[in-house]
Amino acid sequence: MARRDPHSYNDDTQAETVALDWRARVDFATRTLVAEARLHLRAASTGNLDLDTRGLAIEGVFDGEGRQLAYTLHPEEPILGSRLEVALVAPTEVVKIRYRTSPEASALQWLEPAQTAGGTLPFLFSQCQAIHARSVVPLQDTPRLRIRFTAELEVPADLVAVMAAADRGRAGNVARFEMPEAIPPYLIAFAVGDLATRDLSRRARVVAEPSLLVAAAEEFAGVEAMIAAAEALFGPYDWERFDMLVMPSSFPYGGMENPRLTFLTPTLIAGDRSNVNVVGHELAHAWTGNLVTNANAEHFWLNEGFTVYAERRIIEALEGRELAELHAALGRRELDAAIARFGSRPELTKLRTQLAGVDPDEAFSLVPYEKGYLFLRALEEAAGRGKFDAWLRAWLGAHRFGAVTTDDFLASFEAALPGTLARVGAERWIDAPGIPDGAPRAVSARLDAIEAAARRGPPATEPPTPVEWQLYLEALPRPVSVDTLRALDEKFALTRRTNHEILVTWLELALVSGYHAVVPRVEEVLGSVGRMKYLRPLYVALASDPRTRPVAERTFAAAKARYHPIARQVIEGVLR
Ligand code: BES
Ligand code: ZN
Repeated sequence: MARRDPHSYNDDTQAETVALDWRARVDFATRTLVAEARLHLRAASTGNLDLDTRGLAIEGVFDGEGRQLAYTLHPEEPILGSRLEVALVAPTEVVKIRYRTSPEASALQWLEPAQTAGGTLPFLFSQCQAIHARSVVPLQDTPRLRIRFTAELEVPADLVAVMAAADRGRAGNVARFEMPEAIPPYLIAFAVGDLATRDLSRRARVVAEPSLLVAAAEEFAGVEAMIAAAEALFGPYDWERFDMLVMPSSFPYGGMENPRLTFLTPTLIAGDRSNVNVVGHELAHAWTGNLVTNANAEHFWLNEGFTVYAERRIIEALEGRELAELHAALGRRELDAAIARFGSRPELTKLRTQLAGVDPDEAFSLVPYEKGYLFLRALEEAAGRGKFDAWLRAWLGAHRFGAVTTDDFLASFEAALPGTLARVGAERWIDAPGIPDGAPRAVSARLDAIEAAARRGPPATEPPTPVEWQLYLEALPRPVSVDTLRALDEKFALTRRTNHEILVTWLELALVSGYHAVVPRVEEVLGSVGRMKYLRPLYVALASDPRTRPVAERTFAAAKARYHPIARQVIEGVLR
């Protein structure tokens, strides 16, 4: 027996699932899915089949002809969930499982009408990365194994179901979908709510609650240009459509690259298109992550580091080098902060991690993103862009619809560009904590200007873009005096901003500097937004000052029922 993914019960000596037919009735009253999963094995197989589950009530396991199969649902383990062990006595090709999900399913958030933009109808959505798919479907929940699927979702008559899959129409209250490309299970995704759509191009549309649709369409109108730029860099877009779903505000991430239907936080809708780098990021995952996938969470940098690199190449192609460099500079600041936070666990600042016994949600940080980006940039600079790009395309071509490890990457790069890895000190980047000396640095005249301005004090005029505002605030020499902050706020009304990137950077700076006039606005943000990128720094800042710690506790107590389960867990950790 061999378990090749520390986060799955999958045993690589057993049969592999190649396809799933999934049927589920969405019951808002009990907050459960009443479901059936038919798993198609690669070939008729005998022996045991270990599946991942979490919180599922198993009602029966059958073969394709409806004959019962013996099974054992093992006790729940803290990170992995419960192993469902099915005995295949006679050769079996189809395993059918009837089950219900738990109201606490870790992949699902069930929202009351009041938690939606419209306020009148409920909403349900899934978020399966990294290991939550098992709380929705019993399956081999490891990205090493890809599956195709069909799905039928029965939903209340006044709601619309969407899935990260091809739309195959609706019959009565049942919406049908098909994912013809093989995907890792963490990319299974759906949502149910009061949803409308608007086309942006022949292959892209926005899906949103009706009250957000127009603003969302305006914000993301440039998406077709992004797809075209990405194709010019990385090769044809292989997923037919790139639709975008605007999530309820409790969505815990900025974006999630669900294939054919990227999920996006509504905080991206700032009215100035300044957050579309997140769209570029999720789009880039169509190549780096969805086409070529990390084999397990220990190689997560192969998903996210590559995607940040690709995201900045798209920005550079569309907006020019300068803006891409400003994003890289901001990324470096955030990376240094993330590494400082892992002071007691430096092993989590390696690119290749060891995660047996570690929950991927707990290991999550910007390190694989920004350190991965810097490493790839170091390789690009050492090899030259032309050669690097040729390698990147060959890598994507060789591993299309496959799973990769760090060793696969090293072997491929060494074969294509011998000696380059040694020249940049790849071993240190991959297997040592922290950032190697001599890491690439963003070069930008605009960045220099901001840093000079920050040394001089309050600027005479507003920094030209949100990213420059953030860089300015981050570059102010700390501690910043309350007088300086008050002067900045009076002049630029920072506390009243609606662009959350500027707003949260400002609020955090104000809190750690003791400018407590912002506290009511902080409470407002914590009560209305669920994106962890914003919740975490504000809670950390509130909790680390005894004068504001009670605010953190009070606000969390009031808001936690509305937070996503993953966000709730993270903030509980902050307050502990
Ligand atoms: N795939 C991630 C989100 C994710 C990672 C969800 C791990 C669950 C587990 C997504 O592509 C992402 O990285 N989103 C970022 C975007 C940013 C880096 C531009 C986010 O949410 O902030
Ligand atoms: Zn990503």
